[in-house]
Amino acid sequence: MPFNDAYSGRKVLITGHTGFKGSWLATWLDSLGAQVCGYSDAVPTTPSLFEKAGLAGRIDHRLGDIRDLARFSQVVKTFRPDFVFHLAAQAIVSTSYNNPLETLDVNVMGTATVLEVLRDVDWPCTAVIITSDKVYDNVEWPWGYRETDALGGKDVYSASKGGAELAFKSYFHSFFTKSDVSVRLATARAGNVIGGGDWAADRIVADCVRAWCEDRTVEIRSPRSTRPWQHVLEPLSGYLWLGARLAQDANYHGEAYNFGPRAEQNATVLELLAALAEVWGHENPEHAYKVTGNIPFHEASLLKLNVDKALLALSWEPNLSYRECMTMTGEWYRDVLKGGNDALAMTQEHIASYERFALERGRVWVA
Ligand SMILES: NC(=O)c1ccc[n+]([C@@H]2O[C@H](COP(=O)([O-])OP(=O)(O)OC[C@H]3O[C@@H](n4cnc5c(N)ncnc54)[C@H](O)[C@@H]3O)[C@@H](O)[C@H]2O)c1
Repeated sequence: MPFNDAYSGRKVLITGHTGFKGSWLATWLDSLGAQVCGYSDAVPTTPSLFEKAGLAGRIDHRLGDIRDLARFSQVVKTFRPDFVFHLAAQAIVSTSYNNPLETLDVNVMGTATVLEVLRDVDWPCTAVIITSDKVYDNVEWPWGYRETDALGGKDVYSASKGGAELAFKSYFHSFFTKSDVSVRLATARAGNVIGGGDWAADRIVADCVRAWCEDRTVEIRSPRSTRPWQHVLEPLSGYLWLGARLAQDANYHGEAYNFGPRAEQNATVLELLAALAEVWGHENPEHAYKVTGNIPFHEASLLKLNVDKALLALSWEPNLSYRECMTMTGEWYRDVLKGGNDALAMTQEHIASYERFALERGRVWVA
């Protein structure tokens, strides 16, 4: 059974369950036999994977602001989770420029609220706090950032995620190290993810799919920008494995882990779009995308994660090749939006394929 069967029959609370990652995580946990409760302020996009997959009818769907201490506390006390995955956040970088205070508030105080509520939990409970690769102070070096590197951020979104890590560290040392504490915590840092069912603003795959559904050509301004693309299931397998291990072993308590793709997974925006356009069925790439600018790419803005700690401590490693990641992403949108396939069935099928690949490739979490 995947993840040492840690989730079957267990109660799992996901904050941010209506978002892109949260919807995939809820579907995966549901398929693992967990009893899932989700807590979010709203459904953030229309359309959304959450609604297309009918997740409100499959899990215990609760609405509320993550900064609302009384409301969140009441949800935790009534549901009594064995596991908590905290994903609720203002997660869009461009929004952080329009709404910096709200971004800081949701991401830092929201995380502090989760930790404050967990302080009161007196039953065995394991919590994974999801932040981002953007927590690191990007000092423009070419090698990957390690968990011990300095936190920092030159933009508000990065600062808000670094701030969430600082809130975590201070709460951990102040309240969660005593021997009678029944809660175990860790943070997880991953970078940009792609996969079917993301409709968030200003994300390249979502922008393409929106344009192609309306028979528009998508415009690209930074075709040569490279990003370490990874499928959404890659970090989610890391979060789930971290949760499973943390529940069994106190050595993981208070630790932070990076989850990122292999180095060769870096590809340009142009390469990504060419692969997606091919899967979508665009015979002429000129109809799919048009390069309208060529902003010189500043390589220093590319931040890579070093995932050696996850490999050594958790035996976790990425599972998909670049090609598989692109194909799965393109196929999901093509088959659901053009082919009329059921979104939940497609998502479940991708999870099953991902587990099958992991088994064939000897990944420890599925052994
Ligand atoms: N998607 C990525 O590429 C990526 C990369 C690195 C880190 N992350 C992190 O992973 C997590 C999930 O990201 P995502 O892509 O699914 O984001 P998303 O924008 O799709 O979803 C965000 C979720 O948080 C909820 N939320 C926002 N504000 C809230 C509030 N005030 N109270 C309660 N709920 C609130 C939304 O309703 C939604 O469910 C976030 O913490 C994000 O910062 C995402």
